[in-house]
Amino acid sequence: MKITVLHGQKHQGSTWHTTRLLLDYLITKGDECQEFYVNDIPPCLGCFTCILKDEEECPHRSMTKPIIQALEQADIIIVETPNYCMGMTGQLKIFFDHMAYRWMTHRPFAAMESKLAIAISTTAGAGARAATKQIAKQLFWWGIPKIYCINQTVAATKWEDVKAQTKLKIEQKVRKVANRVKKDQVKIRRGPYQRFIFKMMGNMQKSGFGAAKDASYWKEQGWI
Ligand SMILES: Cc1cc2nc3c(=O)[nH]c(=O)nc-3n(C[C@H](O)[C@H](O)[C@H](O)COP(=O)(O)O)c2cc1C
Repeated sequence: MKITVLHGQKHQGSTWHTTRLLLDYLITKGDECQEFYVNDIPPCLGCFTCILKDEEECPHRSMTKPIIQALEQADIIIVETPNYCMGMTGQLKIFFDHMAYRWMTHRPFAAMESKLAIAISTTAGAGARAATKQIAKQLFWWGIPKIYCINQTVAATKWEDVKAQTKLKIEQKVRKVANRVKKDQVKIRRGPYQRFIFKMMGNMQKSGFGAAKDASYWKEQGWI
C-alpha cells in the first residue's frame, strides 16, 4: 500500500502529531509512505498555462511535480493542516491552486476514482472542521470518492500543552479511522453525487464549452 502525506505546515504541532499517530496505526510492513511539506511553493501566478497549455510548463512545476506524482501513485492520500483563521493554511491552499488543472472540470487523473483520503486538522478553539471540509472539497473535485475527516479542538498552541485526556481522544479517533480505512479500501467507488458531477463535466467537454486541451484529454481517456 502506498501512502502520500501532505503537511500544510512545517512545524511539528498538534496536527503533525495527530498525523503521526494515524500513520502509526495505518502503516504496516511493506507499505510505502512519502511525506511532503508544501511551505516553499510560490503562489500560483494565474497564468492559466496548466489549464490551457500544458501543466509541464507551469513555472513552479519542478517543485510541484514530485508531490503530484506521489499523490497520483498513492492508494491513500493524507492531507493535514492546522486551523488558521477558520481554514487551511495559506501554504496548503497555494499547493491546491496548482492542482486546479486536475479538477474534474478540467483533466482529472483517472486513478483518483480508486483512492481514499483522510483530511486532518486541529485547532485551539474552533475551526478544525471548517479546515478539513475545505480539504475534502478539493479532494472531491480531484475525483476522490471517499474522504475521512479527523478534527480536534486541542485548547493549546503546542502539542506538549495538550491535555492527556484530549490526546487520548485523538488516539481513539485516529484508530477508528485507520480501521475503517483498512476495511473500506476494498470497496471504493464513486457515490451518486460524484458520478453526476463527472457526467456533467463530460457533457461540458462534449459540447465544447471547456478548454480544447481538456476536451482532447477526455477523449483520450475514452470518457466522451
Ligand atoms: C495564523 C494562525 C491562525 C489561527 N487561527 C485560529 C482560529 O481561527 N481559531 C482557533 O481556534 N485557533 C486558531 N489558531 C490556533 C491553531 O489552530 C492551534 O494552535 C492548532 O492546534 C494549531 O495546530 P498546530 O499545533 O498543528 O500548529 C491559529 C494559529 C495561527 C498560527
